[in-house]
Amino acid sequence: MTGSGIRDTVREKYGEAAKRVTEGKQAECCASSCCGGSADPISSELYSEAETSVVPEGAVLASLGCGNPTALAELKEGETVLDLGSGGGIDVLLSARRVGPTGKAYGLDMTDEMLALARENQRKAGVDNVEFLKGEIEQIPLPDNTVDVIISNCVINLSADKDRVLAEAFRVLKPGGRFAVSDVVVRGEVPSAIRRSVELWIGCVAGALEEREYRDKLGKAGFESVDVEPTRVYRVEDARDFLAGSGIDADAIAPQVDGKFMSAFVRARKPLAG
Ligand SMILES: C[S@@+](CC[C@H](N)C(=O)[O-])C[C@H]1O[C@@H](n2cnc3c(N)ncnc32)[C@H](O)[C@@H]1O
Repeated sequence: MTGSGIRDTVREKYGEAAKRVTEGKQAECCASSCCGGSADPISSELYSEAETSVVPEGAVLASLGCGNPTALAELKEGETVLDLGSGGGIDVLLSARRVGPTGKAYGLDMTDEMLALARENQRKAGVDNVEFLKGEIEQIPLPDNTVDVIISNCVINLSADKDRVLAEAFRVLKPGGRFAVSDVVVRGEVPSAIRRSVELWIGCVAGALEEREYRDKLGKAGFESVDVEPTRVYRVEDARDFLAGSGIDADAIAPQVDGKFMSAFVRARKPLAG
């Protein structure tokens, strides 16, 4: 599939996910029942009660992330935050509270239905230090050196051009700015056919980077102080039903996948000089 083909498929899937939330249902990212809902090992129970109680229900229902970047990123009063692939807006709304009225939280998403949902959630939350922008994370519609912190929750793995996303993140960050992202990462080698099946389980249309590759790409984009910290490590058991539905014997592939797919918190910093 070409880069624009992947983007169109991703847009369509997340447009459908947004429509489910508009109908009062939990968002799902896969055609099967593997994702979404309380049994989902990837997106369930990422947020504390203290967090979900301060954002509109629609933002919680639309949550399709694989981590909780705002809990791990150290956001300060007055800072400007940008969420790449903001979906229903949960992380943007939580960031807005953390940076306060003197700060600003931007959400960027390419899917109209998600943007409509996020703007409705903003209206219900009654916050005005938030702005949802339409656009692609490969071409961020913000000027150079304007953002203190880039967050993202399970979106960069969906991009067909990760080098471009990282270069854009670097461009818009201020010198000393932080990259603080939750993403799916693969640790070690996994045969490509098996990798594709597990990635489909994790996120509809995914292309998770291998951990070393992620570090290298961040370094190549100019970032320093790169760190990849696993937050959830997936077992073959978690994907058993989905794999069986795809005609894959989970026991047979267990040695090649067990513990190799994870949600991770990926951090890096734009150098102060240069
Ligand atoms: C897995 S969902 C995550 C949403 C949100 N971060 C969350 O935690 O609930 C992916 C979101 O990223 C958006 N997205 C995916 N690829 C994108 C791209 N290349 N540019 C902009 N948005 C993108 C989709 O429209 C969708 O809303």
